[in-house]
This record gives sequence, structure tokens and C-alpha cells, in this order.
Amino acid sequence: MDSFLPSPDCDTISKTYNGQIDSHLVQKTNERYREILPNLPRGKGWMTEHLVQYQGVWLTPNAALKGLMWVQGHFKPRSTDIFLASFPKTGTTWLKALTFATINRTRYGFADHPLLTTVPHGCLPFLEACPNDLDGFPSPRLLSTHIPYTLLPNSMTVNQSCRFVYICRDPKDVLVSKWLFMNKLRPKELAPISLEEAFELFCQGISHYGPYWDHVLGYWKASLETPEQVLFLKYEELRGEPSVVVKRLGEFLGHPFSLEEESKGVVEEIVKLCSFENLSNLGVNKSSVLKLSTQIIVDNRHFLRKGKVGDGKSYLTDEMIKRINEITSEKLLGSGLVFDS
Ligand code: A3P
Repeated sequence: MDSFLPSPDCDTISKTYNGQIDSHLVQKTNERYREILPNLPRGKGWMTEHLVQYQGVWLTPNAALKGLMWVQGHFKPRSTDIFLASFPKTGTTWLKALTFATINRTRYGFADHPLLTTVPHGCLPFLEACPNDLDGFPSPRLLSTHIPYTLLPNSMTVNQSCRFVYICRDPKDVLVSKWLFMNKLRPKELAPISLEEAFELFCQGISHYGPYWDHVLGYWKASLETPEQVLFLKYEELRGEPSVVVKRLGEFLGHPFSLEEESKGVVEEIVKLCSFENLSNLGVNKSSVLKLSTQIIVDNRHFLRKGKVGDGKSYLTDEMIKRINEITSEKLLGSGLVFDS
């Protein structure tokens, strides 16, 4: 069976959790959600008014929290599942495009590839966003998630040989990318968040799926302990040597590039197809929208803003850069992980 199934749009997602497309398990998640929500700590939201803290992670109080609870309680992984994991604004869109193109490279020609007419987010769904649809997906399922590794159920990380590809990015670039993106999504009735405010919240760990450093470290440690299950990538490495990283990706996913493919330039074709320059110029990525809820609609072009390494520094003051670098060094101390800023 063809494994290219466009993901449900976010209308379906919000309907699912609002009970319009319901199932027993979603209903159970909703009941538990209503029980715990009033007692969760609250912090200031970037896109929504508040974030809530659940099991140490900050989430939007509606879809993200329900999604996590559903995954923890009811998701049935398959040993062949592949998860693209990321903290928002670290390169999820790019990783989706590259992985989709790598896995499906013998199925689609580059001249009429689905990525020329479908946004990367439409090529594979978010795990936590579509509980009712995943059972029907053919194996191997290619799904993405923002859930921290440490919060995933054992059924995904220990009992099954699911694979994870994680992408991380310099925190300064993540912060700035996120601040600009979230302000575009923030409803008009809420005042925009200033960079100073976003900076403080980010440093305190109060941002979607934050603290950022905990998110990164969870996947980093898992990649050291079970390298055959978790591939850890950096946005900066991908920007610097995309072909090298795509070859690693193919190998990790069990689809290594043959010598013939390499000599025919297949790796470079994938890199070109998924490049910022190509994707950001495609009509589908320039003009379509993604509905996150009935109120929040995002232009797909916002997922492709600048795509530069080090852009965060041009927004942040020297003092902010110093502080975020200090937090990063402190948090990553002894882990073996560094960001070359
Ligand atoms: P900037 O805002 O710094 O430009 P996510 O997909 O996790 O939301 O991350 C979005 C960030 O990745 C944005 O960063 C976006 O421009 C960048 N990005 C998206 N697609 C890319 C691509 N094909 N190549 C390089 N960067 C890309």
C-alpha cells in the first residue's frame, strides 16, 4: 500500500479532541483532562494566554496537553514506527521533508514529487494530534512529535524497537524563531509578547514543550544509550553538510543510499528538493494555511522564515547572548553535548 497519506488538517485534530469525532479512548482522555487541568501550575503563554505545566513540561492547555495524555494512555506503537522528534522551531518542517523524501525516494520522481504540491506538514502527521487515524496507517508509519523523550510511554521507548530522529538547534536561534512565529499566531485580543518577555520565559523554561535544554538532553542521552534507536541531529550540521546528514539519515532508517544512487546524485536531489530556497519558493508553501484551531490559522510560509544559522544573535543584546550561553553551558555540563556558538 502507498504510505503517502496526507495528514488530517488541524480542523480534524481539534474536532477530535472536542468530541465531534469521538471514541471511547478519546472520551476517557478528555475526562481525565478535565479532572487534572484546574490543578496544574500556569505560566504565561506565547501563542495562547497560558501554558500549563504537566509532568515538568510546559504545554498549551488544550490540544498539546490532551495529545500528550492520549499518547501516554492509549497510543499503540508498532516496532516499525519512525518518529521525527523536535522542540518547536528547531527544523521540524525541514526534517519532515528530508525524511519523507529519503524514505520514498524510489516511489516518487523528483519532477512530480508530492513535496512540490504538498506542504511538509501535510506529508506526515503529528503523533499527538490525530488519535483516531493512526491505526489505519500502513507500516512503517512515519510520524512526528514534540513530546520530550522522558515523557514518552515505555511502550514506545523500551518495549518496542521504534526509531527516533531528533533535531536540535542553537537555543538563541530557537528562541528568536519561536518568538517571531508565536507572535504571528497570537490572537489580536492579546498584546504581543516583547522579546524581553519571551527571553525571560524561555530562560525559565516556560515555552511550549520547555524547558528547551531538558528536551534536548532527554533525546541526547537516549541517543548515547541506544544509538540504534535514536539518531541525534543538529540543525547547524544539516545546514553545513546536508548531503552527509541525509546519508546518515538513510542508513539509520534502514534505507542506505547505494553507490549507484550516490553516483546518480540522488542524495543531492533530495537536498535540493528540501532546501529552504526551493521549499520557500513553492506556491503551496507560500500561499496555503494550516488551521491549528478555529481561532488560530497559520500561513505555511511562516514555517519557512529565514533558515539561517546564527540569526538569533542579530535580535538579542550582548547581555542576553551571554546569559543564554551561560545557561546552556551549565545545563549541558558533563553531557558531552555542545552548541558551537
Ligand atoms: P527561522 O525562523 O530561524 O528562519 P520548525 O519547522 O521546527 O517550526 O522550525 C522552523 C525553522 O526552521 C525556521 O527558522 C525555518 O525558516 C527553518 N526551516 C524550515 N524549513 C527549512 C529548510 N528547508 N531549510 C532550512 N531551514 C528551514
